[in-house]
Amino acid sequence: MALFPEYIIREVSEKNDIYDVVSKYVRLKKSGNSYIGLCPFHNEKTPSFSVSPSRGVCHCFGCGEGGDVISFLMKVENISFYEAVKKLADMANITLPEISGHDREDARRAQERREGIYAINKEAALFFYEQLKTSRQSIDYLKKRQLSGAVVKSFWLGYAPDSWNSLFDYLKSKGYTESDIYNAGLIKKHESGRYYDMFRNRLMFPIFDASNNIIAFGGRVFDDSKPKYLNSPESAVFSKSRNLYGINVARNSKKNEVFLTEGYMDTIALIKSGFTNTVATLGTALTEQQAKMLSKIFKEIIICYDGDNAGCMARLRAITVLREHDIKISVIDMGASKDPDEFIKTNGVDRFKAVAAKRKNDMEYVLDYFGKDYDLKNPQSVVSYTDDVIEYLKLIRSSIEQDVYVNMLSSRTGVSANAIYSQLGISKAKQPKPAADVKGTDPLVLQLKSTAGKKHDILDKTREHLLSLIIFSKAVYNKNKDCITESLFEDEFHIRLLRFVKVCYEEAGSVTPAQITAHFDSEEDNPRAARILSLDNMSDDSAKAYEDYIKIIKSEIKKQSIHRLINSSETDDLSRINNLLKNEG
Ligand code: CTP
Ligand code: MN
Repeated sequence: MALFPEYIIREVSEKNDIYDVVSKYVRLKKSGNSYIGLCPFHNEKTPSFSVSPSRGVCHCFGCGEGGDVISFLMKVENISFYEAVKKLADMANITLPEISGHDREDARRAQERREGIYAINKEAALFFYEQLKTSRQSIDYLKKRQLSGAVVKSFWLGYAPDSWNSLFDYLKSKGYTESDIYNAGLIKKHESGRYYDMFRNRLMFPIFDASNNIIAFGGRVFDDSKPKYLNSPESAVFSKSRNLYGINVARNSKKNEVFLTEGYMDTIALIKSGFTNTVATLGTALTEQQAKMLSKIFKEIIICYDGDNAGCMARLRAITVLREHDIKISVIDMGASKDPDEFIKTNGVDRFKAVAAKRKNDMEYVLDYFGKDYDLKNPQSVVSYTDDVIEYLKLIRSSIEQDVYVNMLSSRTGVSANAIYSQLGISKAKQPKPAADVKGTDPLVLQLKSTAGKKHDILDKTREHLLSLIIFSKAVYNKNKDCITESLFEDEFHIRLLRFVKVCYEEAGSVTPAQITAHFDSEEDNPRAARILSLDNMSDDSAKAYEDYIKIIKSEIKKQSIHRLINSSETDDLSRINNLLKNEG
């Protein structure tokens, strides 16, 4: 993000107290040197969102979100980096200098371009809407689909006439240029160089973003011809993987849960039946970005996909994508109905309410779904069924929740919970061993030791504590800088952070949290930097903490290499293992 130079970002971060900004959104309580509150980015009952004014960062120990004041504002307001910096600069009375003329000009032009497309789309939607009033075919079709005038109005439905240039001519008459209209995706260019209307003889569905701008259109044919739906191409304002049909309505529904459907018609059917909390993907499988967007607004997502085979596959995929996010997932079973629209038409809204109330959570659904395919009296089927289900049990992050479903699978199949666990890659029998023989009662070291044995947790956590320690203790850094090398780390981000810290110390003699968050300002890096900056160095004795961290890191690294050698089970390596063990110090 080269939009602003680093020193500006730093100034904006330093002059906006993160406490003041966060407390507009989160009720904060003092806790030691920091403040703590309920995380605005995931649903929780016990506060794990920590704000450290002295370090200028916030971090959620539950979901991992966080960052500096800029990225906090970006996430909580869902605005761009540019907008967040501008807002914060205004709040702190910082005049953004006439920086990077080009970048600024670019950003301004991009914004203008986006606004231009919104305006053309709106004009086009109004045109389609007017056309619909006089289109017999559309009116008959709407009747057939039981869509009232009120629905047409609230969804801005319209009709694209059966003509090559009616919209094109209309927009030109309104003063728009060919290239404006082309960039909005409303016309296509023929080989001959002539432009023609993209949408012809179709029922039109404008697609709105969360701020109610029209960003694209979907157009449906009136008969069985193909393609059934035609969608606007990707543009400066539209990406089908980042938007959801209905999000403008759902966002204001004030509901905890959201219905996720596959289509325009399904979303409209649910919204008009009173379920204003409904969205649809735009002809693609649910994406990472869409899952993230929904998990920020809602606590539960109810998958209402079509009942056909493609719909079943899409459900499983959606579960896999959503499990990466902090959101409850449920699935509605609509029996033989093709989709929610058809279900409501055939069975009525009350029946839909009833099946919605009986929704299953995702893992129950998975257990039942695969169960249908297998005869669990047949041993080979038991094996296949268990294998299928385990792939999904792997997605569960909470060990308690995982335990519940492991036991459920075990009782359904007769396969022992231990065997399921070992297939999952978790050995329940083995007790976690202490990480290293570290003496002392440093609370941090105790905390680290207590987490020993959880995969690589201990090693990476200790590495992060070490990084945090050298950032906040210049003395420790100076005394040990030659020993703090990249070889202690593995993660690419840790190494970049270490390099940056070293450069700051060597060149300026100091490093500040704001410098770090300003440097690591990408969507991925910023929360990670904030997480490390938020680690509490409770220890009074930094020198001792340093020794302990190094001891743990070295011993864990050694353990890993022994483990690797044992797993590679080459006889030649036995002597190397012995050597490694002998050198244990
Ligand atoms: N879709 C698309 N392009 C197609 C077909 C479908 O973009 N050629 C998208 C549309 O967003 C559509 C969704 O996939 O709404 C689901 O498709 P489908 O189930 O076929 O349509 P329905 O929404 O059920 O529409 P209808 O009831 O009018 O058939
Ligand atoms: Mn349908």
